[in-house]
Amino acid sequence: MLAVLFATSEAYPLVKTGGLGDISYALPRALCQAGVDVRLLLPGYPSVLKALSLQIVHDNIKLLPNLPTMRLLQGQMLGDTNLPVYVLDCPQLFMRDGGIYQDQYGHDWHDNAQRFAALSKLAALFATHCFDFKPQVIHCNDWQTGLTPAYLAQMPHFAKTLISIHNMAYQGIFPAHLLAELDLSPQSYHIHGVEYYGSLSFLKAGLVYANAISTVSPTYAREIQHPEFGYGLAGLLASRRGQLTGIINGVDTDEWNPETDAHLFKNYSFKTIADKTENKRILCEKLGLSYQEKQPLIGMITRLTAQKGLDLVLSILPEILNEGAQLVLLGSGDKTLEMQLQHFAAQLPYKVSVTFGYNEALAHQIEAAADIFLMPSRFEPCGLNQMYSMHYGTLPIVRKTGGLADSVVDTTPAHLDQGIATGFVFEKDEPQELLRCVQRALLVYRNPEMWRAVQQQAMAYDVSWSSSAQQYIQLYQRLL
Ligand code: ADP
Ligand code: GLC
Repeated sequence: MLAVLFATSEAYPLVKTGGLGDISYALPRALCQAGVDVRLLLPGYPSVLKALSLQIVHDNIKLLPNLPTMRLLQGQMLGDTNLPVYVLDCPQLFMRDGGIYQDQYGHDWHDNAQRFAALSKLAALFATHCFDFKPQVIHCNDWQTGLTPAYLAQMPHFAKTLISIHNMAYQGIFPAHLLAELDLSPQSYHIHGVEYYGSLSFLKAGLVYANAISTVSPTYAREIQHPEFGYGLAGLLASRRGQLTGIINGVDTDEWNPETDAHLFKNYSFKTIADKTENKRILCEKLGLSYQEKQPLIGMITRLTAQKGLDLVLSILPEILNEGAQLVLLGSGDKTLEMQLQHFAAQLPYKVSVTFGYNEALAHQIEAAADIFLMPSRFEPCGLNQMYSMHYGTLPIVRKTGGLADSVVDTTPAHLDQGIATGFVFEKDEPQELLRCVQRALLVYRNPEMWRAVQQQAMAYDVSWSSSAQQYIQLYQRLL
């Protein structure tokens, strides 16, 4: 049986800041169902230690020179899964209030290098087969576990490594003087190693030393080999293109299914699509929007960062509202963007609703209530909300980049005829292009028969993990 350690810094429902959390639950579950012995490795954040019932596997592991010894714990993932979870227990590093990467003021934790080097080092120890579980593949995710392959280059081991890139924009860059404290060899500090413009880059370490690299969509795999998307690592990625694969994420259809979703005001399927409107009516009431059955409600659920193209939305919002649409947004992040959004909501409380903070239930309710989902990202490695939206009959408007380009099929007459149209796509990251695309969507919205046809095609689109989980299994097998 194929044995895989899935090392990650977040996993729904224990701890999640974005799509990585969703994937770190859904993909291992899908692999488990496909017969892989996959186990998670997570840091012992308060929410993880609180939710799981854990046993001590090892209580005296020395990972880094300046840190105390740590404990390795083991338990089972929540929910109806048989997914084993390993937890790195080190109160000094992980037991704190605030976010998992940042404090309550939005500043990165001062010791993130030590925190995630420790996690990476523990993942590497699994590859030396010093614990009962002896994985053949260590599957690392993003910069937080990027050092694992670099540590393995320094020690004898028995496993192959795969690193998945979920977002090139976050690289884990730290001062070079930490090299010894992080237990990295002096030899690793060079241009073909962990060095990045005079600093250390955890992501680069992973990309240099891992046996294989994957990212979360075929288009993003091509894009990151170009300077515009590669954040200084495009050349390295191009040189490793033979080991680089793009595998699109799937959706956990147990968590995201309009027929069974417990967060919804009313469950529905395509056959009972009229019931979707009930979700719109009740959500509008709850949020103080005036309910307009025949006017489109546009939804957004997003981290508020430059990546997500909110500036494009803000610059054409008055025009969108003029067309009769309303906006409901849930987000958290950049305070300036929050203030700008708040400004619109204060001026037009019946047309614009904004909620800041993290709210899982509201996210599901918006997916069900909205007619249209807006995702004009500047770049998007995969994106999950456009897929949740299609599955919920909420037609997405997306920019043609990364996983958005790979999952949403533009509503053109030809695509409609072929039965494959699932949303609306625009190319350039310019406000007027977005506006034209929104107007095009509204035109279709005003033609109920055509709208239903696209909804049907979107809801029939296969968003499940089945094919992507098989692609990961093939990738693991190729590595062995
Ligand atoms: P990213 O990982 O770049 O943020 P994705 O589209 O891959 O983008 O995944 C985002 C995930 O996080 C989705 O599950 C989305 O519903 C969720 N999400 C984002 N912001 C919030 C929020 N404020 N409250 C609840 N869920 C959120
Ligand atoms: C990142 C990306 C997002 C992707 C997610 C899961 O957060 O920004 O596009 O869907 O990872 O892979």
